[in-house]
Amino acid sequence: MTAISAYAPLAPLNEKQHTISFQEIYPEQRSETVFANPNVSDAVIPHLGRSTQQALLLKAAREQYTLVTDHAIPTILNKDEILVKILAVGLNPIDWKGPAFNFGIPSLPWVNGRDLAGIVVKAGTSSRVHEGDIVLVPSTDYRDIRKAAFQEYAIATHFNAARIPSSRNIHASASLGVAFVASALALGVSLGLDFSLVTKCPGPSLTDVVHQLDVNTIPVDIKKECFSAVSDVERVTSGDWIAIWGASTTTGYITLQLAKLAGLRVICVADIARHGARLVELGADVLVDRHDTDRAKEIIRGVTNGKLRYAIDIVGKDTATILEATLDDAVRSDGSHAHLLGLTGLPKERKSSLTYHTVPIKLFHESSQVGEQIVCWLEALLQSDTLQLPEIIRTDGGLGSINASLDLLREGTASGKRIVVDLASS
Ligand SMILES: NC(=O)c1ccc[n+]([C@@H]2O[C@H](COP(=O)([O-])OP(=O)(O)OC[C@H]3O[C@@H](n4cnc5c(N)ncnc54)[C@H](OP(=O)(O)O)[C@@H]3O)[C@@H](O)[C@H]2O)c1
Repeated sequence: MTAISAYAPLAPLNEKQHTISFQEIYPEQRSETVFANPNVSDAVIPHLGRSTQQALLLKAAREQYTLVTDHAIPTILNKDEILVKILAVGLNPIDWKGPAFNFGIPSLPWVNGRDLAGIVVKAGTSSRVHEGDIVLVPSTDYRDIRKAAFQEYAIATHFNAARIPSSRNIHASASLGVAFVASALALGVSLGLDFSLVTKCPGPSLTDVVHQLDVNTIPVDIKKECFSAVSDVERVTSGDWIAIWGASTTTGYITLQLAKLAGLRVICVADIARHGARLVELGADVLVDRHDTDRAKEIIRGVTNGKLRYAIDIVGKDTATILEATLDDAVRSDGSHAHLLGLTGLPKERKSSLTYHTVPIKLFHESSQVGEQIVCWLEALLQSDTLQLPEIIRTDGGLGSINASLDLLREGTASGKRIVVDLASS
């Protein structure tokens, strides 16, 4: 049994179990002290004397998840792996989109869930995290069912687990993993932004890390993307403008913060009436309302004098196409191009003068070097209070409440906030 008495006691949750309570809305700053890392007492540290656990199974595409109580607790298969008792699950759009549109499901029945926070209950001696550590895990390796978040226990690798400092909110921390990884890889690998030049809390130069990898270890389908920022003239650097369409998404909030840390000038496209205050707070240089798309294009072109070189879309193919039209499509005299990165799709037709990117998300779990650099930086950003966490809507009721929460996510009710499901009290 591991004791971590240094942590403050977990505040009582809503008495009602298995129902969703949305009255508890916890912006990070307000809830930080209330939901600091819990005292993981006998009640929540398991005796792993059992071999089965609760899990949410997807039994067929376009169906709701089914709660089962006899799913095998996953086992550690190599020295890099740890076992985590899950305390909170952050919900991502993919959690409902995958089943609804039948993608990202390797086989059936399957366990989904991409973001979790929990306590390490088993770790090898060479692990960078230890038993008793509270960690957040972006579970990008969705093809490994053992690593999914919709279960009581999950496997992770130590290089994909970031320790949550005791001062930070564990539930809010459960909500940012995948968004952080996507933002770091999009800016740092695809667009070549050098985080080592950040003054406050410097991070890795991910392009350098990638260039030191054995090329043969990089999966074929992301190899081109991993080396797309190979030339210095193509890389985004401090002072450059970047436009983010979908800045009020969780990924957008993180991308904005990382871009500002590195000195970029950021144009944020979002519903400004709803999200403008938060975007200003996080450092947005220009706000553009998303609802009048023609006007949005004009504003972006006007602000950048028609010279915009970098844009990230976080909504879909249609908005990526609008954003594409704001980029300067002239090839510069040094041979460099404008760059459009789509997290959720890219325009159907491509312009030869532009460079198009997707995010090489699997690099996070495929490369221990990249994974470790990213989680170490995330730990430092959390520890130094440099990164503001997403605002969250916390739901009680454990795994059994996830179907209802995903319905709210699908309807857009969560607008600008992450839904986080508490498992510590269920
Ligand atoms: N490729 C990858 O590896 C990867 C990784 C991470 C995320 N993603 C994708 O990125 C997308 C965002 O993910 P997320 O988790 O960050 O999202 P999220 O936090 O759930 O995003 C919700 C936000 O999207 C905004 N939104 C909806 N339609 C919009 C539009 N037309 N223009 C601008 N904003 C709009 C909503 O704004 P309102 O409040 O105004 O409605 C809301 O604030 C998802 O499609 C996700 O699958 C992909």
